[in-house]
Amino acid sequence: MATLLVTGGAGFIGSHTCLRLLEIGHKIIVIDNFTNSSPQSLERLKTIIGDKANNILKIIHGDIRDKTLLDDIFKSFFLNGQSIDAVIHFAGLKSVEESTSKPLKYWDCNVNGSLCLLEVMAKNNCTTIVFSSSANIYGSKSDKLICENDSIKPENPYGETKAAIEKILNNLFHSSPELWKISNLRYFNPIGAHPSGLIGEDPTDYPTNIFPLICKVASGKKKEIEIFGNDWETRDGTPIRDYIHIMDLAEGHCLALKYLLENPAQIFSANLGTGKGSTVLEIINTFESINNVKVPYSFVERRSGDARASVADNSYSKKILNWSPSLNLADMCKNGWNWQMNNPDGFHDSRKTKLDKV
Ligand SMILES: NC(=O)c1ccc[n+]([C@@H]2O[C@H](COP(=O)([O-])OP(=O)(O)OC[C@H]3O[C@@H](n4cnc5c(N)ncnc54)[C@H](O)[C@@H]3O)[C@@H](O)[C@H]2O)c1
Repeated sequence: MATLLVTGGAGFIGSHTCLRLLEIGHKIIVIDNFTNSSPQSLERLKTIIGDKANNILKIIHGDIRDKTLLDDIFKSFFLNGQSIDAVIHFAGLKSVEESTSKPLKYWDCNVNGSLCLLEVMAKNNCTTIVFSSSANIYGSKSDKLICENDSIKPENPYGETKAAIEKILNNLFHSSPELWKISNLRYFNPIGAHPSGLIGEDPTDYPTNIFPLICKVASGKKKEIEIFGNDWETRDGTPIRDYIHIMDLAEGHCLALKYLLENPAQIFSANLGTGKGSTVLEIINTFESINNVKVPYSFVERRSGDARASVADNSYSKKILNWSPSLNLADMCKNGWNWQMNNPDGFHDSRKTKLDKV
């Protein structure tokens, strides 16, 4: 089993992936600055997997742009007779809207942060990384499923930062192709929560993604959902997206890591989506019927930059990683609502999390 550094491990995707990695038996050091998360998410992992987590999960409060801290983390674990075998790199900012108004903040955190991390990894001879990329980097507006070699043409600063990091990783790989093991995982629309209802998505800012907004409306914290356009050329006039259950996404990371650890140096990019598209009305209808709640909505003008459809061709991930998403839209809606019902204020409770020192 491997010792892993997980950046941004307290966040939505990070916490669910850490859970699966711990369940498999990996040791994890999380570094997170908690700008968009709470250390409580990691504390809850201890509740789910029990006391053994105390020995295999370390939580460091820090920023990936702090190279001294990162270097100390690599050195201290090396001195303890272990070395960090691989990095899973989630840390970053993810709001398309905010990236448009604050591009420098996004380039600094996402791109500069990744540069700092890669420099320290190289210095410490750690050359295996699973990177959180995004379907947002594709320029494809066609009707067909999006595959990995479609054109990369991001249309907002957030997507540009993800495409830039992929380019840096590509340059790095070609500088020492015998050393680096790199996977760019391009996520489509992760939603839902762990079935326990103990961890889930808890953004500190006001959410802009559809699923947290649906939960807010269903719980009465927001009056209605505004749907951007009902005149798209789709089966009901609303845009189509590829929603993927967060636990299927977490499993994709475990398999990508396994693949990299077991195979020679290489770089690859892989879509993580179900390959099935759902319209906005379909997700609302599914949410209402499976959870027996109402989600009022209204239609407003189309939003600039939105696409008619974005659905993954996931055949490459299925083939190379032996991965297969197994949970459907009803599971996503049920588990996501269960999390919301059990945690109406997210992780905002008074209990303190014990953080580790390097
Ligand atoms: N959720 C999505 O829809 C989606 C889709 C595609 C790609 N991604 C990418 O996946 C990754 C994880 O996404 P998420 O949904 O879990 O987001 P999230 O905001 O829940 O998690 C990101 C985590 O990184 C931490 N972080 C941010 N900047 C940091 C820094 N400089 N140093 C240390 N920690 C830092 C945050 O506190 C947070 O815990 C992000 O890189 C995001 O861009 C997300």
